[in-house]
Amino acid sequence: MQKHWQTKLIHSDAQVPQGFRSLSVPTFRASTTLFNDAAAITDAWDQYEAGYTYGLYGTPTTLELAGRICELEGGYRTIITAGGHGAIALINLALLQSGDHVLLPESVYAPNRRLANDLLRRFGVEASYYAPDAGAGIARLMRPNTRLVWCESPGSITMEVQDVPAIVEAAHRAGALVALDNTWSAGVYFDAFAHGVDVTMQALTKYVGGHSDLLLGSVTVKERKTYERLGVTHKLLGCAASPDDCNLALRGMKTLAVRLEKIQTSALTIAGWLAERPEIERVLHPALASCPGHELWKRDFTGAAGVFSIVLRQGIGKPQVLDFVNSLELFKIGYSWGGVTSLAVAYDFSHHRGRAEYGHRIVRLNIGLESTEDLLADLAAALGRLG
Ligand SMILES: Cc1ncc(COP(=O)(O)O)c(C=O)c1O
Repeated sequence: MQKHWQTKLIHSDAQVPQGFRSLSVPTFRASTTLFNDAAAITDAWDQYEAGYTYGLYGTPTTLELAGRICELEGGYRTIITAGGHGAIALINLALLQSGDHVLLPESVYAPNRRLANDLLRRFGVEASYYAPDAGAGIARLMRPNTRLVWCESPGSITMEVQDVPAIVEAAHRAGALVALDNTWSAGVYFDAFAHGVDVTMQALTKYVGGHSDLLLGSVTVKERKTYERLGVTHKLLGCAASPDDCNLALRGMKTLAVRLEKIQTSALTIAGWLAERPEIERVLHPALASCPGHELWKRDFTGAAGVFSIVLRQGIGKPQVLDFVNSLELFKIGYSWGGVTSLAVAYDFSHHRGRAEYGHRIVRLNIGLESTEDLLADLAAALGRLG
């Protein structure tokens, strides 16, 4: 067909050499995905079954990331979401319905608690909380309508390591599924499926992304029937992940092992050093005996990440805690963790049910890739101000 230039802008006949090979995964951006003929059109969400149907359900870039996360976690399939919290929301909305009950640990990531207390309750789902060290004792909290038990191990900020296999056993006996926020272990230091978990999620925003410049989540399942419930809900919610962010996450994955290794070593050195300081009452790092659930970490984990908390000694006032954080130079103040920059955030749990003992004296640290020696010097100077 003879084409005007306007048409050539859209339907070009330009040729490029074939056979290009590179080490990076291409970024496929798409809303429209083409079909071979009119009869082939479908909006089926499962791109493994139906082939590619619509960008919302994944492009080869999104599915490449999903496939690699799934491979690492040893699951059946992974769905990529537009943020870690999106992954949490997807699990809740896919696996719960009006009349159901969900159990969450007191140490759960706060937005998951808010989602349960607000959105889920509005939709007729009951939510209640259990002590993160409940273990097999969770059996007493199961109700006839409990359909989902959340675990987060270690818990957000207070770092309690949970007895996941014991919780799984009790939950399964009562007919409930178990979902785990496995972000801290980056999906590699805790083998969730080997420990009986049904669904895992990770905020890929953290260690997989690794550079504090993207937002992504993953939901990985052990079985096809759970995948179908999640896939259908994912389609209904219409929350697609950006292929550009997926590409950055794929790049992040290539250096995940070396980053985790260096961060682990540095965090252990720093945690051990902090444990000796007179200004500090307690270090909540799963690899230290002072952390609740340390024995479970030794039993179930194959490594430690670089996020942990410190509890400053009794008598230190809130203004002093804030001054300590403000006076750090290399540790920046900000949410999210798992990137290359060290971070510090002070929390006030004075009015938090189940965690009030830590009051305003708890500070969470994210250890980045700076020199360990410099980070120690920074902490020493800031602690020195506490007198
Ligand atoms: C344990 C945990 N889970 C989930 C999330 C949510 O991830 P995102 O920030 O990608 O929504 C976070 C973020 O801070 C987190 O710390």
